[in-house]
Amino acid sequence: MTQDASDRPAARRRKTPEELRSHRWYGVKDLRSFGHRSRTAQMGYHRSDYAGKPVIAIINTWSDINPCHTHFKQRVEEVKRGIWQAGGFPVEMPAISLSEPFQKPTTMLYRNLLAMETEELLRSYPADGCVLMGGCDKTTPALIMGAVSMNLPAIFMPAGPMLRGDYKGGFLGSGSDTWKYWAELRAGNITERDWQEVEDGIARSPGHCMTMGTASTMTSATEALGLCLPGSASIPAPDARHAQMASLTGKRIVDMVWEDLKPSDLLTAASFDNAVTTVLALSGSTNAIVHLIAMARRSGFDLDLDRFDALARRTPVLANLRPSGRYLMEDFFYAGGLPALLAQLGDLLDGTQRTVTGRTLAENIAGAQVYNDDVIRSRDRALVAGDGLAVLRGNLAPDGAVIKPPAAEAHLLTHTGPAVVFDDYNEMAARIDDPALDIDADSVIVLRNAGPQGAPGMPEWGQLPIPKKLLERGVRDMVRISDARMSGTSYGACVLHVAPESYVGGPLALVRTGDRIELDVPNRRLNLLVDDAELARRRAAWTPPPPKFERGFGKLYLKHISQADKGCDFDFLETVPARPAAAGGGEPEIH
Ligand code: FES
Repeated sequence: MTQDASDRPAARRRKTPEELRSHRWYGVKDLRSFGHRSRTAQMGYHRSDYAGKPVIAIINTWSDINPCHTHFKQRVEEVKRGIWQAGGFPVEMPAISLSEPFQKPTTMLYRNLLAMETEELLRSYPADGCVLMGGCDKTTPALIMGAVSMNLPAIFMPAGPMLRGDYKGGFLGSGSDTWKYWAELRAGNITERDWQEVEDGIARSPGHCMTMGTASTMTSATEALGLCLPGSASIPAPDARHAQMASLTGKRIVDMVWEDLKPSDLLTAASFDNAVTTVLALSGSTNAIVHLIAMARRSGFDLDLDRFDALARRTPVLANLRPSGRYLMEDFFYAGGLPALLAQLGDLLDGTQRTVTGRTLAENIAGAQVYNDDVIRSRDRALVAGDGLAVLRGNLAPDGAVIKPPAAEAHLLTHTGPAVVFDDYNEMAARIDDPALDIDADSVIVLRNAGPQGAPGMPEWGQLPIPKKLLERGVRDMVRISDARMSGTSYGACVLHVAPESYVGGPLALVRTGDRIELDVPNRRLNLLVDDAELARRRAAWTPPPPKFERGFGKLYLKHISQADKGCDFDFLETVPARPAAAGGGEPEIH
């Protein structure tokens, strides 16, 4: 259940109306402020509606083409209601909606664009604080990255998961059951009619994917970071309590402005550790690695892959959620939601970290209870004791690669086999089901040119398909390696985020079909068993592929994108190692 912030501790010094940023637009007496006021009057507002009040920008990622945010048209009214009630002036500002199912080649190509848009909307307009409305995968990190860089008081309003999918009296999980039933269809175990029933029942309400995919992972991580109201990330989108949460979020941001409670007051190395620990306890999406690194680097903290591996070794998986477990987000909410899970983590979290409520994380979750201990496990009944994630290194991934061991068949976690290499996605799609393809269950499927620059955008291609002829023989998992990401709803022995990527000359570019590859997850190794002299010969003969974009945003992206182990941010937007200035990037001149 969402907590409001009405019983928060005695507030810090409150700003005066003259100290509001918007005062420079509305409060002064000059020619330009006349323009701002007269044009606000043109929109039907009397000066008493806004004079001396915090202007709250609501960055709304609603779009007709984003099914996860269809309720945002209504929710924004509830956010506004809360802002009005608390004495603020709400201003809705639409921003690009990154719609995971529709945007090609991948929403990841545009995460930094939404981050930039968020930052510049906040900078260029009279915003004193903001509500960030997102939830569909990349919208969450993008909005937060932008808000962190601008560093105005900010609160996130999570979209909430959709209801459980429904199929033949059982449940369907977003993504996970798509991959599962697609494999069964290709193996001839279900009919086209069955498949159509899956299509009709798998997404049946507003809200984001309801497995522990990237959306649920990132909204939960955001709650653990202290950037949204306690309990808000777990509420199903159609639930009336979600609307209540939206209104409470609107109320709270107004006080955050008066208290001048900014992201830089909340985000610390320890709060990022809390977010990583939470993701691990949820067995969350591997995409969180890239996003949390980017968010941390925007905040001035050099969160690296080794920190994920270190925290993974000590963090048990407590959430029994698909794709690694059994249940869905709706069950998780009824079982107590994220506050209950955080309470189970106990001393694995730093409870002293401050949050948007003005209270600490420990204060926020005090008294949170588990109502179904099969969905949210106690530490002594963890689903997996540790190693929910592993960071691999070796001559195939000098800057690291990742795998999610609980999502793989255990016997594949220590495996050596011959590579079957595909140069790009199209080649793989064309050849993977070719009956003549020389491949068996011991082979290691390799896809290259799927990374940040190579694809470009590092799409979620990492759950490489298993050849049809092997599916028909009952094979359901194989070792697969790429420089791509993988959907948080996916599963399998998929080695992801290989860095540096093949497109920029990483060792993945040098692999040839038939080379033997060693995966050793317990010892965190990923090696190409080819001697150094031969690799040097191959490197000398390697030439970089041509650029994928010659103009526009794509060209900007290719020039400035960082590798996966650095979070795939633009180099000119990171703030590591320095903390951002009070309002990142400077304030606009007001004329
Ligand atoms: Fe929007 Fe999965 S498609 S969260």
